[in-house]
Amino acid sequence: MAENITVPKGLADVIVDETAIASTDSDGNLIYRGYVAEELAEKSTFEQVAYLIVYGHLPDRGELREFTSFLNSHENVTGTRRIMRLLPKDVLTIDMLRTVVSLVPLAEKDNDRVLLEIAAKMPRIISDGYRLTRGMKPFGKIRGSYAEKFYHLLTGSVDKKDARLFEELLILYMEHEFNASTFALRVTASTLADPRAAVTAALAAIKGPLHGGANAEILGYLLSLKSKEEARKYVDRKLDKKELVMGFGHRIYKAKDPRAQYLKRRLKDLALEKGAGQLYEVAVAIEDEMWEKKNIPANMDFYAAICMYLLGIDGTFNTPIFAASRSFGWAAHYLEQVSGNKLIRPSSRYVGKTGLHV
Ligand code: CMC
Repeated sequence: MAENITVPKGLADVIVDETAIASTDSDGNLIYRGYVAEELAEKSTFEQVAYLIVYGHLPDRGELREFTSFLNSHENVTGTRRIMRLLPKDVLTIDMLRTVVSLVPLAEKDNDRVLLEIAAKMPRIISDGYRLTRGMKPFGKIRGSYAEKFYHLLTGSVDKKDARLFEELLILYMEHEFNASTFALRVTASTLADPRAAVTAALAAIKGPLHGGANAEILGYLLSLKSKEEARKYVDRKLDKKELVMGFGHRIYKAKDPRAQYLKRRLKDLALEKGAGQLYEVAVAIEDEMWEKKNIPANMDFYAAICMYLLGIDGTFNTPIFAASRSFGWAAHYLEQVSGNKLIRPSSRYVGKTGLHV
C-alpha cells in the first residue's frame, strides 16, 4: 500500500491540483486567466469575462457575437414551468434552482455546450421559478445584455446604471479557483459524471452559510443595527460568544478581500444616491470593529449583500445570483478537470472501533 500523507483539516493551504483559470497574485489580487478581476469588472462586460473564463482569452468581436447569441438562444426554460409550479410556495430559491437544474430539458449534447446551456438558463430559472411558485406570471421576453436582462428578471427594473453595478458584482462573483462549490463540482466531474450532475453538486455546496449562503444571512443582522455604536456592540457580543459574523473571513484572504474593497467603493456612491448613508456607516463600523478586535476582513459577500439590497434585489436571490455567475467558472473547471482527469478519492484515518464480532 502507498504511504499516506496527512494534510490539514479542511485542506487549508493544500494544493490539490493545478488550474489555469484563476488564482490570487502576490499582491492579493484575484486573477482571472491572467487579468486582475477588479479591472475586468470595471472595464469589461459580463459576456466578455464569461468567455475569458471558459475559453482562456478575451473574445474578438466575432467570438463575442457568437457567444452572446448562444446564451440568448439557450435561455428559455418554458419546458420546466410544469415542474416549477409543483414546488412548494415557500421553497428557497436556491433549492428551487438546484432542483430545476437537475431536470431542465437541454438541447445540447457536447459537454462544453451543455455547461454553457445550463449557465445560460440560470437567470430564467431563478426568476420564472420564483414567480411561478408564488402564483405570479413570469416576465415576458426581455432584451439587453446578460446583466441587464438578469437584473430586470430579478427586480422588474430597466435602470441601466443599476444594471451596470449589478454586472460588476456578477463579474466579481464569477470565479475563485478551488472554492468549496467548485471543488464539489470537480470531485463530481472526476467520476466522469455528466456536466448537469456536476453543476447540481456545486449548487448543493454553494448553499451552505460558510460559502455562498453567507450572502443571504448578512442583511438579517445588518438592517437591525441603527448606529455605529450598535454595530460595534453587535460585533463584540458575537465575538464574546465565539459566534460567526457572517460576511467576514476567508480561507484565502486573511488581510483583505479585493472584491469586497471594490464593492465597498461602489457602495459608498450607491448609498449616497439611494439615501442610505447610515447603512453604509453601520457597515463600515462593523468592518472596522471586526478588524480591530479579531483581524478578520470583510469578504465579498458582505458588501455584495448590501449592494444587492440597495439595488432593490430581494434577499432570496442573493445566493442564486452568486451561483448563476459562478456557473461560468464551474463550466471552465468541469472542462479542465475532465481534460486531465484523475479520480479525486482521498483516504481517511480510521478512528472507529475495531475487533468487534456479531
Ligand atoms: N466571525 C467570527 N469569527 C470568525 C469568522 C467570522 N466570520 N471567520 C473566522 N473567524 C474566526 C474563527 O472562529 C477562528 O477563531 P479562533 O482562532 O479563535 O478559533 C479564526 O477566525 C480563524 O478562522 P478559520 O475558521 O480558521 O478560518 P477558515 O479559513 O477555516 O474559514 C470561513 C473561512 C469563510 C469559513 C470563515 O471565515 C467563516 O465562517 N466566515 C463566515 C461565513 C462567510 O462569510 N462565508 C463567506 C465566505 S467568502 C465567499 C465565498 O467563498 O463563499
